[in-house]
Amino acid sequence: MSNAEEVKKALVQAADAARFAPSIHNTQPWRWVVRGGELRLFGVAERQLTEQDPEGRMLLLSCGTALHHAQVALDAEGWRYEISRPEEGPLAVIRPTVREPIQPEATRHLQMLRVRRTDRRTVTEDAVPEDVLAFLAKAAEQAGSRLHVLGRDQVLELAAAVDQAQKAQDTDERLRAETAIWVGGDRPDGSGIPASALPEELPLTTVAERDFQTRGTLAAGEGHDQGATYAVLYGTGDDQADWLRGGEALSRLWLAAAEQAVNLLPLSGPVEIASSRAALRQMLGGLGYPLLAVRLGNLDPAHSAPPTTPRLPSDQVIEIAD
Ligand SMILES: Cc1cc2nc3c(=O)[nH]c(=O)nc-3n(C[C@H](O)[C@H](O)[C@H](O)COP(=O)(O)O)c2cc1C
Repeated sequence: MSNAEEVKKALVQAADAARFAPSIHNTQPWRWVVRGGELRLFGVAERQLTEQDPEGRMLLLSCGTALHHAQVALDAEGWRYEISRPEEGPLAVIRPTVREPIQPEATRHLQMLRVRRTDRRTVTEDAVPEDVLAFLAKAAEQAGSRLHVLGRDQVLELAAAVDQAQKAQDTDERLRAETAIWVGGDRPDGSGIPASALPEELPLTTVAERDFQTRGTLAAGEGHDQGATYAVLYGTGDDQADWLRGGEALSRLWLAAAEQAVNLLPLSGPVEIASSRAALRQMLGGLGYPLLAVRLGNLDPAHSAPPTTPRLPSDQVIEIAD
C-alpha cells in the first residue's frame, strides 16, 4: 500500500471511530471529509439544538469529543499528526505525518471508545477514591482543561443551579418540542436518545439528573447520590476554539473514567442557561469558564447496564472526497 493509501485508510478509520463519541442528545452534529491526506471536521447546523443551544456551545463540545475520538484512533495506529484549527471553514483539520511504534496506553484508550457510555442509573455509596479523582483531573489537564471537584457546600450550589436551569427549560414550549424530537422511543435512524437509556423514574438525588420530559425503560435503581462526587470541567475562554478544546477534554476525561470503571454522567443544563452558567462561573472563583458539570461515581455491578445508544451510519457522517 502506498503511503497516501495508508494515510487515507487511517483517516477513514479515525472518522469511523469518532462516530462513537458522546454528543448532546446524541445529535452527532459533525461531518468529516477525507481529502488530500487530511481529515476535516465540520459542525452540522441541521443537527444543532437551536432552542436549547442557540449559541452552539453544546454543538462545539460534541464536535470536540468526536475530534478527540479521531485522535485516539490515530494514536492507536501509531500515527503522529498535526491539527490546525482554522477560524473559517472546518473546525479542525488533522494531517498525519509519520508513523511510530504504538504506545500501550493508546491501545487501551481505543478500547475505551466502545466501553464508555452514558449510564443514568444511580451510583453506590462507595465514593470514588482520591487517587482516582487525581488521575481523572490529570487526564482533563493533559487535554487542556481543568476539573474542579466540589465540596459539600458547592454541591448544594450546583443542585440549585441545575434546578434553576431545569425550570427555565421546562417552561420553554419551543425547547420542549425540540427535546421531544430528539429524545425517547426507539430511534431507528441512529440518532437521539432511545427510551432504553432513560430512567423509568427520575432518581431522588441531591443534584437532579436532567429531566428529558419523558420516561424511559431503564431501571435506575433506588440509590441516592450520597456516594457521588460532583465536579465542574472548565477551560480558559469562551470562544469557539475553547469549546472545541473543552469537548476534547471531556472525551479524554470520560475515557479515563471508563478505564477506572468510574461512571461519569454529564450535567450540561446549568451551562446552557446564562444565569446558571454565571453561577457556576462564580463557583470557580472566576478562575475559568465552566464547560459542564459531571457526576462521578460507582455503579452497582449487579444491575445490568443500559444497551448502547445507536449511531448514524458512516456514510451519513463521512465523505471520502478522493
Ligand atoms: C456536551 C454534552 C452534554 C451532555 N449533557 C447531558 C445531560 O445534561 N444529561 C444527560 O443525561 N446526558 C448528557 N449527555 C450525554 C448524551 O446524552 C450522550 O452522550 C448521548 O446520548 C450518546 O450516548 P452515549 O454517551 O451513551 O454514547 C451529554 C453529552 C455531551 C457530549
